[in-house]
Amino acid sequence: MPKQNITYCCLNCGYKTISWTGKCPTCGAWGSLEMEKSSLDTSAIQTSGTVALKDIMETERVPSGIGELDNTLGGGWMRGGVYLIAGEPGIGKSTLLLQSCASISTRGNKVLYISGEESQSQIAERGKRLGLMSPDLFLRTGGDIDRLLEDAEDFDFIVLDSVQSVVSEEESGLAGAPGQVRTTAQKCISFAKEKAIPFVLVGHITRAGTIAGPMLLEHMVDSVLRFSGDRNSSIRIIRALKNRFGSTDEAGLFEMTPSGLEQVKDPGSLYWNKAVTTVSGVAMTVMLEGSLPFLVEVQSLALRSSFPYPKRTSQGIDVSKINLISAVLDKRCALNTCSSDIYVNVTGGLTIKDPSCDLALAASIMSSSLEIILPPDTCFLGEVGLAGEIRPVPRLKLRIAEARKRGFNNIFMSALEKGPFPESLKIIKLHHLKEILEVIDK
Ligand code: TYD
Ligand code: MG
Repeated sequence: MPKQNITYCCLNCGYKTISWTGKCPTCGAWGSLEMEKSSLDTSAIQTSGTVALKDIMETERVPSGIGELDNTLGGGWMRGGVYLIAGEPGIGKSTLLLQSCASISTRGNKVLYISGEESQSQIAERGKRLGLMSPDLFLRTGGDIDRLLEDAEDFDFIVLDSVQSVVSEEESGLAGAPGQVRTTAQKCISFAKEKAIPFVLVGHITRAGTIAGPMLLEHMVDSVLRFSGDRNSSIRIIRALKNRFGSTDEAGLFEMTPSGLEQVKDPGSLYWNKAVTTVSGVAMTVMLEGSLPFLVEVQSLALRSSFPYPKRTSQGIDVSKINLISAVLDKRCALNTCSSDIYVNVTGGLTIKDPSCDLALAASIMSSSLEIILPPDTCFLGEVGLAGEIRPVPRLKLRIAEARKRGFNNIFMSALEKGPFPESLKIIKLHHLKEILEVIDK
């Protein structure tokens, strides 16, 4: 008889220990440790026969029917792939997935949408509004996961909305409890792998902004997608936080309209308003959100401070970045910004995290401190180092294309950037930050 190894596993974070404790030492959850007999029970291990890699690669994807979503997924839903799509309530998860389900079902696939959140009539009402009239789109509401999966044998694509709303009889606790979510997800994963169909789980977001349920959930699934947006705006963005089938660099943009989510064809135009560039302190740059380029305007106002500790206030950019760039300007360009109050604003409500926008921030602070207006139709693309050196930026061509599209044909960039560049562009190459002064002071 094989010896059984008894271990205790935290249902919340997956921590394992050989002795039981009331509180998980890793994630701090109480009463979450459960006994596991881990001996030679290999039934839970997924194995497959030997197969040619080419054959697996040919188990092609199922296009979602929504171009922006396909980009984010890396070319569509992968057969056998399990996806977790998370977002705040009301952001549009159900709408997006219903739209994708409807499109997939019009291409000869039988699609099942399981909802534990809304009644049939609510979904039907939404379907009517979205104009979804496919005969191959089926609906189930709520229930026990085992029964739901038993009845889902011959479907080609399944959505479970949400993983927190169904229960498994094997587990105690209410729907949404860590054990319930883990078991439900595990069953869906086994089902998807066995049937080689894409399976999408919708996940709730907690008040703290993390995905509700056990942290293990994110490890268990193949891809995690985050659907987010500002409640006051109709713009929604989808990003892959984890993607076993593609890159996590892509992002998709949508607009919520009365007839559902529509793809935004020209994302750059969303936040772009032509600025009054005839004042000092305004510099343009192109930031990237995933692979989407946005032309943004950085505005600075630097004025002599009447306080011993000058004020640094910003909107859309980290204050520590302003302090850093201001220190570099003082030390390497002999400016005196350390005794100035500096206010920085990124227009359009965007937040810059991209270091490629450093040069624009530096130029904008410089311009305001010295009261010099920067040349018109000019864009700044460069990262600034502590020595004041200007470094190259990733995906320069993409940024330049966006700048040109909006009529910005003069580009300041690092001298280390390699061309060729379009002939109509005026390129100003810089080694060091202080060279900006030589160019703009003329
Ligand atoms: P929903 O998809 O239910 O969000 P989630 O599943 O993430 O909770 O989206 C609900 C919101 O979307 C709701 O506030 C109304 C709005 N909406 C539209 O503006 N247009 C539409 O066509 C639909 C279906 C919803
Ligand atoms: Mg919903």
